[in-house]
Amino acid sequence: MCGIVGYIGHRKATPILIDGLKRLEYRGYDSAGIALIEDEGLIHEKTAGKVDALVAHLADRTFTSHVGIAHTRWATHGEPSDLNAHPQVDNSGNIAVVHNGIIENYRALRQILEQQGYKILSDTDTEIIAHLIGFHYEDDLTEAVRASMSLVVGTYAIAVIDKRSPDVIVAARNGAPLLIACGENENFVASDAAAILSYTNKVTYLEDREIATVSINNFQISTIEKVKVDRQATELDWTLGAIEKAGHDYFMHKEIHEQPETLHNAMRGRLNFEEATVRLNGLTDHLDDLSRIKRVIITACGTSWHAALIGEYLLEEYAGLPVEVEYASEFRYRSPIIDDGTLVLVISQSGETADTLAAMREARRKGAKALGIVNSVGSTIARESDGGVYIHAGPEIGVASTKAFTSQIMVLSLITILLGRMRNISANMGSEMIAALESVPEKIQSILDREDEIKKIAELYYQSNNFLYLGRGVNFPVALEGALKLKEISYIHAEGYPAAEMKHGPIALIDEKMPVVVIATKDSIYDKVMSNISQVRARKGRVIAIATEGDTEIAQHVNHVFYIPAIKQCFTPLLSVIPLQLMAYHMAVLRDCNVDQPRNLAKSVTVE
Ligand code: AGP
Ligand code: GLU
Repeated sequence: MCGIVGYIGHRKATPILIDGLKRLEYRGYDSAGIALIEDEGLIHEKTAGKVDALVAHLADRTFTSHVGIAHTRWATHGEPSDLNAHPQVDNSGNIAVVHNGIIENYRALRQILEQQGYKILSDTDTEIIAHLIGFHYEDDLTEAVRASMSLVVGTYAIAVIDKRSPDVIVAARNGAPLLIACGENENFVASDAAAILSYTNKVTYLEDREIATVSINNFQISTIEKVKVDRQATELDWTLGAIEKAGHDYFMHKEIHEQPETLHNAMRGRLNFEEATVRLNGLTDHLDDLSRIKRVIITACGTSWHAALIGEYLLEEYAGLPVEVEYASEFRYRSPIIDDGTLVLVISQSGETADTLAAMREARRKGAKALGIVNSVGSTIARESDGGVYIHAGPEIGVASTKAFTSQIMVLSLITILLGRMRNISANMGSEMIAALESVPEKIQSILDREDEIKKIAELYYQSNNFLYLGRGVNFPVALEGALKLKEISYIHAEGYPAAEMKHGPIALIDEKMPVVVIATKDSIYDKVMSNISQVRARKGRVIAIATEGDTEIAQHVNHVFYIPAIKQCFTPLLSVIPLQLMAYHMAVLRDCNVDQPRNLAKSVTVE
């Protein structure tokens, strides 16, 4: 989620706020805004697009204010627009709020506020926070924020100003980072130290469910339950570059490690435990149609196409629907058979991939309902589709897709549960699948905690010239994805294959110089994979196995084994891809490659 900057001090606020927003641009965003307490009252200006668009919008204005807040938005609810940009303000125009995160219960709160006569103007979840604070405000902004955020379910980092309380900024945090930074006769609020590091390195991080009242020379932290908190400031010794990557060497590494959090976000507010199904707001208007579809086509490119292949396994097995997966670049020029019983799912992280957009337009032209599984809110594919589900992975800066891939699989899993529960999945099976998905973030964290094991394997093989990745069933697409990750960031040639297919050609490549990565998790086809491993070993191939914790047998038959936690077979890809992401990353680093911007690649391929 994106960027927050607040300033209260002896200097004019505007240049400091704009500078802070520019320091946060690296995080990827779609709109920006600023709010100030001027002599004439509360000023708030915001624009879709880059910070430069906001600066241009303010060019002929002069501000004298010494207190203000600013925001770069990565939309989750409501497309990028001037109206949906932050700050969001209450109807009285006294209160301005900037927010990072997702308010899960905003629809219910919006209904209550509208019944109280409040006019909700934007499509965002954030706006309800401004109205709640307006509703609770008597004479103490901190207490109004406390009362309001006690009602909110979800993740937030917020900064709030009110023209009636011009001597404070109130900040609050739950599930999204927020800090207070202290200077001489000035204090800052920021979601990321990069925004303020050029002014001070003394920061105090808020913890979840904490509120801070920040004035020019002081700040006080308390819990949302009004318990006072005393916390020592930290002196940061990071460089700005390190801060932008939160201490990681590359954005890709940061994004690999964000996956427990981003997968929480992909599920947040969407699990319906009572009915053992899911609720996907973007599909609410399509439930009748979805109950009648007879077949599914999933179209995408690259990593998103690999996610589509996993969706095929899920939907066929649990929703009982025939599924075809199509490369968008092929689909758009074919004469696909589409009728009104055909659902087309369009998967795209950027929402701007030219081939995928063209494929969706072709499908809709032929009468199909097209639903998007997209990360970038308000992107072209998201806007032109008939509806869809956002994956909420936050900005993915590394060109090689990692967290978006697992969040795409998560959303495909949720869609599978939704469609399956409309068809032949029992409530028990629905509950079992939901419970399995809920365990994924913690299981991924346990894999990430053992990253060094992967790094050691990478150190042994990073000088290889060729790799083969093998997997069966739902792990075959993971073999493809592992090979793509290695190819695109380390420039080592790698191919993914169905494990059984190796006998039909690739086995000719096997020798002691050919490392073979095999996904050999304990499932219904484990024995078949083990015989494939024997075939590789018989030809002196070196086998790196991804196996299920507790499987001591496999260690006798391979050169290296990396264990992942057991999970319901259909969800294995969410775990088995993690060591492959890490292995590609470490080999690329060992080969001194530009991990975040690999040669020849673009993050979004908006041309054919
Ligand atoms: C994946 O690591 C690559 N960057 C690339 O294959 C990417 O998945 C593909 O270009 C599709 O992008 P999209 O998901 O934004 O449509
Ligand atoms: N959910 C809020 C919105 O969509 C905040 C998004 C963000 O974190 O930037 O406006």
